[in-house]
Amino acid sequence: MGGLLNDIEYADIFELLAPELEQSASALRAALQKDGTGISSVVQSLESSGFDDSGMILSAPVIDHGQAIPLVAEGAKLTTRYVKALLGRQCQDVNTAIGPLKIAPTEALVAHYRSKMRRVLNAIVADVSRARSQGLRRFYGAADSSGHLKVAQECFAEVSEKLLESPECVTSLVRMVAASARRDPFGDGPDAALVAMVLFHQYLDRPGDDRGALVTIGTAALLQDISLSGENLQRATAQHAAQSAGMAATLGASPRVVGLIRQHHTMTDPQGRPALMSRGFLTPEAKVLVATNAFTDECSQSANGNPFEVAKKLSHLAAQRYVDTRAVRILCRLLLPKLKAYVLEQSDRIAAQCTRAEATPILWPILGDKVPTVFLCQDSLCQHRTEQVSHISRPVVFQVEGQEVASVSAGDYSTCSALTPHLRALHVALQGRGRG
Ligand SMILES: [Fe+2]
Repeated sequence: MGGLLNDIEYADIFELLAPELEQSASALRAALQKDGTGISSVVQSLESSGFDDSGMILSAPVIDHGQAIPLVAEGAKLTTRYVKALLGRQCQDVNTAIGPLKIAPTEALVAHYRSKMRRVLNAIVADVSRARSQGLRRFYGAADSSGHLKVAQECFAEVSEKLLESPECVTSLVRMVAASARRDPFGDGPDAALVAMVLFHQYLDRPGDDRGALVTIGTAALLQDISLSGENLQRATAQHAAQSAGMAATLGASPRVVGLIRQHHTMTDPQGRPALMSRGFLTPEAKVLVATNAFTDECSQSANGNPFEVAKKLSHLAAQRYVDTRAVRILCRLLLPKLKAYVLEQSDRIAAQCTRAEATPILWPILGDKVPTVFLCQDSLCQHRTEQVSHISRPVVFQVEGQEVASVSAGDYSTCSALTPHLRALHVALQGRGRG
């Protein structure tokens, strides 16, 4: 099987070392070029991690482009001795261009990379405290105490084990790490996988053994952005879902996984209407994966992922039928104290009482940590329109991977006299229970 693999090509020595040292190539380059004395500690850590036994055989000579002379011959085993020399030369002069480095994908090397990737992936998933946003940390905290996080982490081990069976997948993951300019070589993939598995576990509502289904959605979430690596990661494109799906198919992912990746941000149907308006357009797994991405994107975009703000935005997207209501409800219950989650759920039910086609009642405020107290609407012909006008000075934008999905436009809104009293009654009832 190894013979079918292409050579693994690195642009330079920093990229080659990035997966070995588990840091990004750009950080390594910056550190070493600033301070050449770091080379010996890099070499030391390579020696102690068994780099010399990893079986890196050069399948092309390493060339110094400035002088067009081969520095290391084709067929040579790349050892720490060579690494030290190449790093020294590379760091002496910032303008030196040594590379590319082409490595033969021998079985020994694939095995070396397999254990490296297994360790990197498992370490990321085991340590959920690394999550940067408040929303994600809250989510993990709740999922941990309900026991769902543990199941998701166990399933993740199956996801990574299955992926790492394929040498093509191993080398693709290594390329992803090497090209990544970020600290997290797999981007948001591992978080998306855990969140999707926790959510889908609860979404299925079956206490039985759903691990197969969880592994499918976890695999899709992990690979969903595989086409975005390196600098591409910063500028996600609308095509990346299709491109990632194509790459996952080449790596041998199942048709279900490939289909899920293709739809992982699908909030609209082919006619441009909210996706949930089209019955059967999304499978339950796809609904959960889309909700997962709306959540993780919102966590990284909005004010440090304030859980209540994130929950309100997602509830807004769900009310507009861009994201599945049930998935959002489960998310809200994990993210929020019971009463806040209850207010959002009930608001949904209250808003659904409005039957006017032109009306789009919005819960207000939908930003910040305040509990919403009114329904606003711009339907000028509605009999429930009141004189109480609120001016929204800036549009509230919902972005998913750079695409605007649903927003509250700036302008004047009237307080709805039909829905707002129900919301107020709800607050009074909750306060009456002493926990408002
Ligand atoms: Fe994506």
